[in-house]
Amino acid sequence: MLPLENIYQGRTLVIGHRGASAYAPMNTLPAFELALQQGAHGIELDTHLSKDGHLIVLHDFTVDHTTDGSGAAKNMTLAELKALDAGSKFGAQFAGTRIPTLDEVFESVGGKLFINVEIKSESTETDGVEQAVAECIARHHLMTSVIVSSFNPLALQRFRSILPTVAIGYLYHPQWTFAPEVMDALPHEARHPHHSMIDAAYMEQARAHGWRVNTWTVNDVDEARRLHGLGVDAIITDQPDVMIEALKN
Ligand code: G3P
Ligand code: MG
Repeated sequence: MLPLENIYQGRTLVIGHRGASAYAPMNTLPAFELALQQGAHGIELDTHLSKDGHLIVLHDFTVDHTTDGSGAAKNMTLAELKALDAGSKFGAQFAGTRIPTLDEVFESVGGKLFINVEIKSESTETDGVEQAVAECIARHHLMTSVIVSSFNPLALQRFRSILPTVAIGYLYHPQWTFAPEVMDALPHEARHPHHSMIDAAYMEQARAHGWRVNTWTVNDVDEARRLHGLGVDAIITDQPDVMIEALKN
């Protein structure tokens, strides 16, 4: 397993979930830049491939929820996706905000923040997203400041075989497990459990395996303090400012 001490440095990291998404449109440059301004140690983002093979940063498989468009992102070209307004639904002051590419996010905050790239993939077959993510990370020389996570163990397996120098984290929730046995045979640096799964026994087991524990999505101060007390490695939150303050003492 890859050493991650340079990233964690003995701290509980505060990571902006889709950026500082309580205050700016999720998965956009304003949300990521705000997380940086608030003092977050890192950001989490979600990525998919466009129809013409560009990595875009978007949570859902469709553009309907966060933009003024509709339809599946994988059926749209980057130019079509870039024509959409990804800010107005969140607030008029964000009108004209665009869906960013992963390249644009790396250019904006890469090297300044730890970046958790979540690969959105529900398929047993690859669409090429793992190769594209690996090439993008390598192109920006961010191998030691990125962790790639996914709910899809097959995507993690594919990614690891392409770029083994980048840490991977297994995302899971009690109700959403997909081929968990793949992870038994795949060394991985981190687990990304839903916060409700974590107690002292969970942490003990994680430590025995050498896994970092990066948990989501924590917006409640008392819950953050509970998790901090149990020794989690990172808290993924929509409100980095609130969590930074909560973990100060
Ligand atoms: O990576 C943590 C979290 O983002 C996983 O769930 O649906 O917000 O991508 P989701
Ligand atoms: Mg995510």
